[in-house]
Amino acid sequence: MQRSGAAARRRVRAWRTKGEGRSTVILVTGGAGYIGSHMVLSLLDAGREAVVIDNLSTGFRESVPAGALFVQGDAGDPDLIRRVLRDNGVTAVIHFAASLSVAESVRAPLEYYANNTAKTRNLIEACLEAGVRRFIMSSTAAVYGNPTSLPVAEESTLAPISPYGASKAMSERMLTDVAAAHQLDYVILRYFNVAGADPAGRAGQRSCMATHLIKVAMEAAVGNRAGITVFGSDYPTRDGTCVRDYVHVSDLVSAHMRALEHLDAGGESLILNCGYGRGYTVREVLGAVEAEIGAPLDIEDGPPRPGDPAELVADNRRILERLGWRPQHDDLGFIVRTARAFEMSLLDGG
Ligand code: UFG
Repeated sequence: MQRSGAAARRRVRAWRTKGEGRSTVILVTGGAGYIGSHMVLSLLDAGREAVVIDNLSTGFRESVPAGALFVQGDAGDPDLIRRVLRDNGVTAVIHFAASLSVAESVRAPLEYYANNTAKTRNLIEACLEAGVRRFIMSSTAAVYGNPTSLPVAEESTLAPISPYGASKAMSERMLTDVAAAHQLDYVILRYFNVAGADPAGRAGQRSCMATHLIKVAMEAAVGNRAGITVFGSDYPTRDGTCVRDYVHVSDLVSAHMRALEHLDAGGESLILNCGYGRGYTVREVLGAVEAEIGAPLDIEDGPPRPGDPAELVADNRRILERLGWRPQHDDLGFIVRTARAFEMSLLDGG
């Protein structure tokens, strides 16, 4: 176990000794990753204490905001997790650490069941043993597979068509079973397509082997890759390319903050879609990127990618009602603009 962030550690200790401030310390698994690092910033902005655990397999040490306590290790290591939970008086866990590429999951399913399902099992068990009673889990729209009606609501049948979606559906089931048997409350957030970067430029998506559409397009836009391939142009959609519901990462994080407040206030366990409820095709997204950069991208048509459903758009009524979630950035242009600004900062060595 590698630790750093002496100032953060001192603050957590001082806070716990004096009993000052907010009454929670939050463990963020995968806090060195794209969404996790935005989450930590938001917790710190709100004056919360954050402990990050990340094995840095895909995350970056420099993405962990100063002010959080960082522990390098695996979210599926029960001894380590128990120790981290107890040593820091953690009261809630937000679990981001996972493998997240649909296409990769089709090629390496066992890796996805190990990373996403088996490790989540260990983490939940460690929470029970350490008396942590609040758990927020990252799930995905991929649990629905090809929905029979759109926009897709939470009570729709779960029929994942990729090992990624199945690995998350299994984790969801496990968490709900455990919560029924033990004292554990949860919020499961089913993310639609998360994109963009912190509007203040403090965080963004760093990944070296990006697969997500807007990130890949941005890499092409700044010259880090030759062009972009559209995976499939014969889907039953308005222009033949897949439709997705793109949600700004800051809005996604604000949903987690609301979820935390909900559980802190003794609220019931919930499963919630997190998307804006409107879809864009791949070509429309690429058009928005071209408009932002003021130049054409080098775009070619390719075959469909295994595991990709034609259309995923969220029915978001439940999250709006139950958490009072109020998204601020439902604007594809803004999503693309913040993604571009962060990509440019990476070019400058950020
Ligand atoms: N796409 C391309 N070319 C690329 C990359 C992507 O055409 O180079 C297409 C994909 O085929 C898909 C769309 O752009 O139709 C979005 O693909 P992403 O890889 O950006 O995202 P996914 O929809 O595959 O998956 C993401 C998250 C999942 C989540 C899902 C829900 O990774 O966790 O959104 O919609 F489940």
